[in-house]
Amino acid sequence: MGRQWGYILFIFIVFNESTFLINNYMKFIIVVLFALAATTYASKTQDQILALLQTGTKASDAIDTVFGLLNDLKQSNIDAQFAADQKNETDEWVGAQTIEQFTKIKSLNQKLFSQAIENRANYEEVLKQTKNYLAWNEARRDEIARKIDALQDNQCFSNQLFVKSIKHNQEALEVIRLLKQDVAGYIINGDSFEFTQVKAQSVAEKLKQYSNLFQDHQIKSFLALANGQEEGASSGHGATLAEKVLGVLEGLESELSASLENLKQNEINASWELAGWVSLSEAEISSLEVEYERKQVFADRTATQIQAALAQQAKSKIILQESQDALDQAQADLESRRADYAEAKAKRQEENAILDEVIIMFKKQVASWSGR
Ligand SMILES: *[C@@H]1O[C@H](CO)[C@@H](O)[C@H](O)[C@H]1NC(C)=O
Ligand SMILES: *[C@@H]1O[C@H](CO)[C@@H](O)[C@H](O)[C@H]1NC(C)=O
Repeated sequence: MGRQWGYILFIFIVFNESTFLINNYMKFIIVVLFALAATTYASKTQDQILALLQTGTKASDAIDTVFGLLNDLKQSNIDAQFAADQKNETDEWVGAQTIEQFTKIKSLNQKLFSQAIENRANYEEVLKQTKNYLAWNEARRDEIARKIDALQDNQCFSNQLFVKSIKHNQEALEVIRLLKQDVAGYIINGDSFEFTQVKAQSVAEKLKQYSNLFQDHQIKSFLALANGQEEGASSGHGATLAEKVLGVLEGLESELSASLENLKQNEINASWELAGWVSLSEAEISSLEVEYERKQVFADRTATQIQAALAQQAKSKIILQESQDALDQAQADLESRRADYAEAKAKRQEENAILDEVIIMFKKQVASWSGR
């Protein structure tokens, strides 16, 4: 190219007296090309043209040669543009393919990265739930242990109450028995029954000590009998009265026995139930302990899996970034090729416009010579 521009410069030097307008850009090019022509590109062809013109060889040959050179220059730009257009198509196609491939790779890596995040989040959720379970398990075992302690304390206390109640009950039974013996003694003797108010009063006092064990109406009916005896003493129905008193006492005795029996049964049932509950609860505690161990191992393993998932996530992120970079690079490459193409094309167009102008000027010059 430089050498060809050298020719143009040469042509200007020869034919152009700088009488026509040349814009600054062209001047610049001419100056640059002059420098090139003067140094690197001073060629044999240039010398030949110079020789042709200087030796006055047929002017028409020289003119043809110059036209030929100018057209060659234009043609070479047109050829170069044709090649550039071809390359343009290839570049566009290759660029599109490359971008498509990298886009696919990137979206695949994007998916893998999302999966890695999800995977890590899942493990974290599992660990959270496992830890919740472990906390629950611990709290549950504490609660059961506390309940067992509390119930055993209660049981101990109620055992003492039970013992007291039995003692109280048996004492009351003892009193009744003694009273019965007294009253029975009157009946067996067949003696005139002297169940004085003093006696009745003392029996009533003894019974009152245990009043919590007797129904109020029983005490009252007994006292009524005792009082009635005093009124009926003169009528001589003592034996019948004694039998009535005995009947009431026996009623009281059997009631006390039944209540004692019930007391025992209750206590047995309560103890039995407690024992059953404690043994079930202890079984639950030991199964909770087994499950705790198992879940603890699981939690440790999950924590390790979270570490691995985090590493995988970090790696996926880097790979995604790399494929994003590759995609960016492919896009930048294509853009830079496009820019180069556009720049080279504009330059060729500009050159060809200049060449067209030069051809016009040259034609005018030639016409002016012919006219001379
Ligand atoms: C004790 O338990 C038995 C059977 O479980 C029941 O039949 C009985 O009525 C209970 N006794 C008392 C006093 O609760
Ligand atoms: C190819 O040519 C078209 C049309 O001039 C242009 O828009 C595009 O930037 C060019 N691309 C390349 C890679 O040269």
